[in-house]
Amino acid sequence: MNYERASGLMQVLLNHYGLREQPFAMTSDPKFLYLGSGHRESLASLVYSIAAGRGFVALVAETGMGKTTLLFNLLRQLQGYAETAFLFQTQFNPREFMQYLLIELGHKMANQDLVLAYDDFNKNLVRNARAGKKTVIVIDEAQNLDIPVLETVRLLSNFETPKNKLLHIVMAGQPRLADKLSDPSLVQLRQRISVIAHLSPLSPEETCSYIAHRLRVAGYEGVPLFAPGALAMIAAHSKGIPRNINNLCFAALSIAYALGKRTVDPNIVDEAAADFDLSRVGSQQCAESYPSAEAVEFAGTYLRAFKAAMGEAAQSRGPASNGVPNEIAMGDWATV
Ligand SMILES: Nc1ncnc2c1ncn2[C@@H]1O[C@H](COP(=O)(O)OP(=O)(O)OP(=O)(O)O)[C@@H](O)[C@H]1O
Ligand SMILES: [Mg+2]
Repeated sequence: MNYERASGLMQVLLNHYGLREQPFAMTSDPKFLYLGSGHRESLASLVYSIAAGRGFVALVAETGMGKTTLLFNLLRQLQGYAETAFLFQTQFNPREFMQYLLIELGHKMANQDLVLAYDDFNKNLVRNARAGKKTVIVIDEAQNLDIPVLETVRLLSNFETPKNKLLHIVMAGQPRLADKLSDPSLVQLRQRISVIAHLSPLSPEETCSYIAHRLRVAGYEGVPLFAPGALAMIAAHSKGIPRNINNLCFAALSIAYALGKRTVDPNIVDEAAADFDLSRVGSQQCAESYPSAEAVEFAGTYLRAFKAAMGEAAQSRGPASNGVPNEIAMGDWATV
């Protein structure tokens, strides 16, 4: 299949479900941000730390949990209040790091010399401070930074006046970042980090709300696309990791479409999950069947919980009522 045909098919799929755009894309588009309790708390703690001048903060979570998506939202919120630099390429030495940083801060010709680069950086900070603006450096994928670069990041904190924090640094990364920061050689940096935010997997309830939210943002209006049992299976197979949820939902919708079904049922989710089972295609085929007995039991438990909750919600169905934007009340599960 060529690219043109593939995009044509994608469009057919979107039209079939009445979607304006792909609801489960792999991009970290902040427009789709869903704030479950953990994501909401972490975002709030990042925003608050910057507003309160806490200096260094870190965001640590497993891959696919939504760090980059959250950072993009943070950058949006800072527009107009701060000059921001978003760094995500992390394979460089201290000099390259400073150059990259200066370029991100709008210096056309970033200084080659490290000392001069620090000087340029300092002038930039002072200029922003005089204009009443914060300077915020957001470093994504920080788990890949080498120790000397982390030490350079630490040195940036010297650009402070006794009274004001001129500079705020947010470092986001996978758990390896936490391991690195525990290295005895980085004790000075570690001590400067005032907040370490964490993202935990979405609960099964949040998984349902997340799916509903993404479908709504993508323009879906209509009858439920995912049967309750299918939602339970997605929660179980994805383990509440948003990237896994996206993968499963998109694969399941594609399979449902191919089978001429409007609704995704649990069998379809199983089939979609099997497509992501690398052990089936690896050189050593895994003897264990998929889903594992554990996953099925997990799904079964949540399926029963969903049904019970939906039974209650159906009886007392009223407006979505938890008062939290981006959240969906329990009663809305049935309309995912
Ligand atoms: N809270 C959320 N709301 C909406 N979508 C989310 C959320 N969290 C994650 N996603 C989606 O899941 C996918 C993975 O998210 P993201 O790229 O932000 O993860 P990450 O933690 O940065 O992963 P990695 O460590 O691999 O870089 C993206 O498609 C993103 O849109
Ligand atoms: Mg990321």
